[in-house]
Amino acid sequence: MRIPLIAGNWKMHKTAGDARELARAVKEGAVDVSDRQIAMAPPFTALAAVAEEIRGSRLILAAQNVHWEQKGAFTGEISVPMLEDAGCGMVIIGHSERRQYFGETDATVNRRLRAVLASRLQPIVCIGETLEQRESGKHHTVVQQQLAGGLDGLTRPGLLRIILAYEPVWAIGTGRTASPEIAQEMHSMVRGWLSGEFGDEAQEVRILYGGSVKPDNIDDLMRQPDIDGALVGGACLEPDSFLRIIHFRP
Ligand code: PGA
Repeated sequence: MRIPLIAGNWKMHKTAGDARELARAVKEGAVDVSDRQIAMAPPFTALAAVAEEIRGSRLILAAQNVHWEQKGAFTGEISVPMLEDAGCGMVIIGHSERRQYFGETDATVNRRLRAVLASRLQPIVCIGETLEQRESGKHHTVVQQQLAGGLDGLTRPGLLRIILAYEPVWAIGTGRTASPEIAQEMHSMVRGWLSGEFGDEAQEVRILYGGSVKPDNIDDLMRQPDIDGALVGGACLEPDSFLRIIHFRP
């Protein structure tokens, strides 16, 4: 029922030319894939190049962030209509790097989410605890607070459009993946929280895992009942590793 989604977060990597090459390789290597969705989130400056490269394929173009206003005097920001115009189908919101380095809070995540849900874009909302929060036993509370704040005011139709990404901060870019069991435990907690708020529709929501997803751990992660896909950073920058992840064998 929940179609698996593998999304590559390119972060601040690739010029337009390099992006085109990577997108082409992924498109060619993924032609046989029909039972799962694949998204790629290049930096803003490469959206047009990637859009052109993947036109007519099943690949989904995604952005890494978005502002909540439609337009205006917001130097350096990009709006929902701009992303739609660029050919995006999805957008990442509240990535931990935005929270850590750029002042993102649950309140700003919520503003972005509301703007995205008023469009036809699909949001990928990121949540996850730091190492310190996990070691002090607060990981459930922290993630529940992120959900309560970030998803505030979410309606049932909205719920059916969102995708969540659980990304423990201690696993991002560190090579230290959460074990499939730890990830499953958190995903099941998140789904339980959603059920408490929204009832059975929580079963429809895709929850991706992110944090050092690699070709050698994707199969085990995808075997977990509540892991519906992956948000991949470092390993999405090379076609071979990203294609192996896309071709996970559950
Ligand atoms: P990583 O990044 O795969 O390099 O750990 C994941 C992410 O930040 O989305």
